[in-house]
Parts: sequence; structure tokens; C-alpha cells
Amino acid sequence: MNKISQLISLLGGTGAVAEKLKIQPSAISNWKKVNKVPNNKHQAVLELSSQLNVNIENFLPTKNFVNFKLKILLIISGGIASYKSLEIIRLIKKTDIELDVVMTKSAQKFISPLLVTSLNEKKCYVDLFSVEDETKMNHINLARSPDIILVAPATANLMAKLANGLADDLASTILLASFSKIILAPSMNPVMWNNLATRENYKKLLDRGIEFIEPDTGDMACGENGTGRFPDPNSIFELILSNIKENQILSNQFKDISILITAGPTIEAIDPIRFVSNNSSGKQGFEIASELTKRGAKVTLISGPVSIPFPNCENIIQVKTAQEMLDSVSQQLPSDILICSAAVADWKLIPKTKSNNKIDTNTKIKKTNEKLLFETLKNPDILETISKSNLRPKIVIGFSAETDNLKKNAYSKLISKNVDLIVANDVSNGKVFGADYNKVCLVEKNNFEQWEIQSKKSVAFNLVNKINDLLTNYNQRDIYAK
Ligand SMILES: Cc1cc2nc3c(=O)[nH]c(=O)nc-3n(C[C@H](O)[C@H](O)[C@H](O)COP(=O)(O)O)c2cc1C
Repeated sequence: MNKISQLISLLGGTGAVAEKLKIQPSAISNWKKVNKVPNNKHQAVLELSSQLNVNIENFLPTKNFVNFKLKILLIISGGIASYKSLEIIRLIKKTDIELDVVMTKSAQKFISPLLVTSLNEKKCYVDLFSVEDETKMNHINLARSPDIILVAPATANLMAKLANGLADDLASTILLASFSKIILAPSMNPVMWNNLATRENYKKLLDRGIEFIEPDTGDMACGENGTGRFPDPNSIFELILSNIKENQILSNQFKDISILITAGPTIEAIDPIRFVSNNSSGKQGFEIASELTKRGAKVTLISGPVSIPFPNCENIIQVKTAQEMLDSVSQQLPSDILICSAAVADWKLIPKTKSNNKIDTNTKIKKTNEKLLFETLKNPDILETISKSNLRPKIVIGFSAETDNLKKNAYSKLISKNVDLIVANDVSNGKVFGADYNKVCLVEKNNFEQWEIQSKKSVAFNLVNKINDLLTNYNQRDIYAK
């Protein structure tokens, strides 16, 4: 009896396993015949065995399981170490991680895409201008869907292209169009590695949050000695796994914490056709909701009208006006944390005639020769109302878009509205709204941080780290107070 047949028998036999995994018994019989569980079923088998308390260590490579669906994109560029990436593919294939591979033109001079395709049991992508692939906007899909993009080996050329924003082939275009974590494993001749241009590119990329698996020092294939050797594929694979495990730890950071997030604009009707609103796209708030959900928080997102897809989170409530947003937030309390990132319209406009008579707004206001005036009616301030109420969450965070005196205005909001942190950004010249990038500063009572310009996804990631610090401090204060 082969190993997989023994395993199936330990788990209750073909019929029972098929029923539990909701697949045909013939599929299980096939696993037994080929003595292999397909990669996409490893996780299900692992879960079943842990439910049944069956130790399957001897039957499947359990040490490489990850607890959530993970997708890696491996980019192979053209260096002497390109062939070593084949071993990385082989190691990843032993796990339940989903893998796509892209090769540069130069990489194809060293190894063939056919070899990569057969090893990965999946098409290897090589062409930016592929009529077939681009019907599905493949360069964007490949850029957006992976959790990690690993470039191994990364040539001096590809590092230079990424550092300078060049996008003249599939690999460099994907790297430029991605929000995913990017990890480079450079490998090159020591003189190339130490060249000032490469040093500057390396520093630029580090500053942008790109991670590196440093090259080893030793004898090189070219006969020289120094730093630039491609690290052992096993150690690269182990580093990627520990990176994933770090992510797994993060995925429980906000377990059982309830978080309310407002996002997008609100709109205030003038009549059944016209309204007052603002340029907020909701992107930054949605990224924060998505990051907190990834870290295990129970997120309720209260969103004004937006035209972007909703993020994955526990609860989404759609509202239109400031009053509806306030009502929704109030109904969702108590909550541990409130993040007000919505751009709430400050006023409603009440149309009046020149002689100060009210105009019927139940029907469309007619164009006449008489001058139309508007009276402003202040909307409720959601941030202030909640942070001064007796249901105030432990942590309250506000966003402040300013066109001038950013720091001063943000600080006075922090104090007057009784909030813990203001995330302020400069929106003069139409910057920020709708963009994928954001430059923010954080204002607290005794702390000010100016952050570098970065993607809204990256702002969300760093902000969630900050929120974790605030929550830890709050909980410690709470313990000392008791
Ligand atoms: C035999 C040979 C070996 C090479 N090895 C490396 C290398 O290890 N690292 C590197 O950065 N470039 C190396 N190059 C140069 C790159 O192949 C070249 O810069 C190419 O333009 C890289 O293209 P890519 O970044 O699009 O893959 C090598 C070239 C040759 C001919």
C-alpha cells in the first residue's frame, strides 16, 4: 500500500474523505493510484486530518503548509544564476502556495520557458504584447493579484529599471504596476554590485519599501571573488516562508477587535437632481478597511457614494448624507476603534430667492431670471460628536484634508475634537483625491511624523501598525489604571 493510500485509510477511507472534502470518490482513487495529493487539496487534507487528530507528517510535506491562500509571482531575470530559480520553483511547488512565473527576454537565453512551464505545471509569461494574454489585461492582473513578487535572480539591469520607473517589458511593467510586497534577490558580478549606479539604485529601492535578500560573498562563476553570488535557493525559500509566517502572525493582530471606518464623500441634495459633494474617492479608507480585515479585525465600513469596488470586510453600509453617516456610526457603537476617513460635506445648501423666500426643493428648481441664493446649514461633525459622546471608542482617529497650515490646523482639530490621532494631508492643487499615492503626516498630542509619499496601500499598512501601537498603549494604560 503506497503512502497516500495509507493516509486515505487513516482519514476514514475513500468514501468518507470524498464526502468530507466534497469531491468525487474517483478523484480520491486517482490520488491513491498516482500516490499524490494535488497541491490545491493539501490545505483541505491538512484541515481534515487536524479535525480527526491524525498526524500526517509522514504522508505530506506538512512543514510547508501556509494557513491562508497565498500567491507568489516569481520574476526570473537574465543572469548566470537564472537556472537556480528552477530550484525555487520546485520548492514552492511542494507547498500549497499558488505560483506564477514571468521571465525576461534575457532570462530565456539562460533557461527555457518550456522548462519553467513544465516544472510549474502552468503557463510561464514572457510577453508584454501578447494579444492572447492581454485580452484579460494580464500585465495588470499579474501585478495586482500576488501577495509577494519575488525577483530571483534580480539583475543589475532590472534593479536599474525598477529604480528609475522604466516599463519596457512584462517584468518591469508588472513591478511598476504592483502594490504587492516586492522582494529582490540580486545576483551579479561584484564590480557590478559595487558600482555606484547599482548602489544608488539599491538605496532608492530600499527607501521605497522594496525588500532585498542580500547576495552572498565568495567565488563567482566569472572567476572573480566578492559580493554578488546568488544565495542558496533553499535559504531564499526559507526566507520567503518566514516572511509568510510573519504575515500569518499579523493576520491575528486585531483578532476580536471591532473597528468602524467611514470612507468616501457624502452628498447633500439641493433638489432631486443637484447636490453638493467633494472629490473624495474612498480609496484610502478602503485600503485601511482591507488591511485591518487582513489582520483579523471585525471591520464595519460605512461608505458614502463611490465608484471603486468595495474591499473585503465583515460589514459594509452604504449611506449618502452626513446625517445618514452619523446615524449609521451611532447605530454600530460600541466599537473598539473609530477611523473617520470620510470627507463629510460640511454644509447643506438651502436655496432661497433674492427676497429671502424659501424655494420648494421637492421638485427641480427652475431656471428663472431671478438671482438664486444659497443659505448654508452646517452638517453634524461625526468625529467630534462620537469622540465627545459617552460611547467614545477606545481609539478615535480622524483624517484632515488641508490646503494650508497643515500641521497647525490638524493639531487644533486633534485638541478641539478630542481625538487620539489626526492623519493630515495636503490637498492643494487637487493632489491626493482619486490618486493611488498619498503623502500624509500624523499629528498626536506629543508626536508629529511626516511620512514619505507612498501608495495608499502602503499608507494603510503603516497606519495599521501605528493603530496597533495606540491600542497596545491604551490597553497598558488600562491595566495600570485598574
Ligand atoms: C553569460 C552572461 C551572464 C550574465 N550574468 C549576469 C548576472 O549574473 N547578473 C546581472 O545582473 N547581469 C548578468 N548578465 C547581463 C544581463 O544578462 C544583461 O544586463 C541583461 O540586459 C539583463 O536583462 P534583464 O534584466 O531584462 O533580464 C549576464 C550576461 C551574460 C551574457
